[in-house]
Amino acid sequence: EYTLDSQKSKVVVTRDLGTDVLGRLSENPFVDMVVWPQDCLCDRDWLLENVEGADGLVVMLTDKAGIIKWNLSRSYVMDTAGANLKVVSTMSVGYEHVDLAGLAKRGVRLGYTPDVLNDAVADLSVMLALMAGRNGGEALVHVKNGEWPNDSWSPFSWCGSQLSGTAGRPRTVGFLGFGRIAQATLNRLVGFGISRCVYTTRIGSLPKRDLEESLTEKYRGVNPAFEGVRHVDLKTLARESDVLFVLAPGGAETRHVVDEELLREMKRTSVLVNTSRGSLVDSDALAKALRQGWIWGAGLDVVEGEPNISADHPLVQEPRCVIMPHIGSATFATRKDMANLAVTNVLAVLSNEPMVSEKSV
Ligand code: DGY
Repeated sequence: EYTLDSQKSKVVVTRDLGTDVLGRLSENPFVDMVVWPQDCLCDRDWLLENVEGADGLVVMLTDKAGIIKWNLSRSYVMDTAGANLKVVSTMSVGYEHVDLAGLAKRGVRLGYTPDVLNDAVADLSVMLALMAGRNGGEALVHVKNGEWPNDSWSPFSWCGSQLSGTAGRPRTVGFLGFGRIAQATLNRLVGFGISRCVYTTRIGSLPKRDLEESLTEKYRGVNPAFEGVRHVDLKTLARESDVLFVLAPGGAETRHVVDEELLREMKRTSVLVNTSRGSLVDSDALAKALRQGWIWGAGLDVVEGEPNISADHPLVQEPRCVIMPHIGSATFATRKDMANLAVTNVLAVLSNEPMVSEKSV
């Protein structure tokens, strides 16, 4: 544990993270912890009342939605906190909801929670690839609506696109963004007999040649037919992928990188999976692609504008679009690790120690 100054530090937490995790703050004699007491989005007036004089702020990825709903600028929260504020710690790997420029201007540091959620999000990415490829969304609704008894089996009913590959039917997976979650997803897919992996990285960043070589060698050991991991441009990624996983950070730089032009390049049998941020995919273009059959299906854990996604949203209306309400990291073990890491990051700053996971702003 960390040794804090004998002077008390105020830490405001915008959600109840459970007694185990919050006990690390509440039982610390040098921390004055204030927690939003309800299990719903933290209230605007409560936050502004309580954030004053805070040294640390633990926030959730949903807090941006709340702040927009309150029609309140993000820097206003920081202004109200005042000069004591040293650290904002988000319980998420993504930081699209955080005003990076505002933090930088005030010299406030940012903690986040990478790595601990890699496996949970990779699991969900594979699940969405399978569900979207195999008509999982529609098939579930069919049974739930009691329609199965009226539906006689036929040789080609409910057929979809197959994720696994064989020697005679090679499969290529593509990654838009090739960080830790993408690599954990690839690791799972090798067991499905996929034979090739293509990826793109941020514009201007170099191909990861050493990584390509080491992964190719490793996966050839598992599947001798595995041809390798290769960096390609965006158009080639779209053209070659049987399943295209979108796993890059959100923000202005990547907004709508999956647009109509890119979707038109994809195979008619391909599946798009997005488990990163909704802003990377142009929802209208994707709905059009699904409606007009440019691609087979889509599996989304995130949608631009979430959580305000109503039943008449064009993507919700698409039968081959499987949508989950941003549950990528939602396993008990992972969420607890994320909550603990968020608290650890705050305590580290308040004790003048390096953060375990700091995002430079
Ligand atoms: C994150 O932590 O940013 C993820 O989106 C949570 O699932």
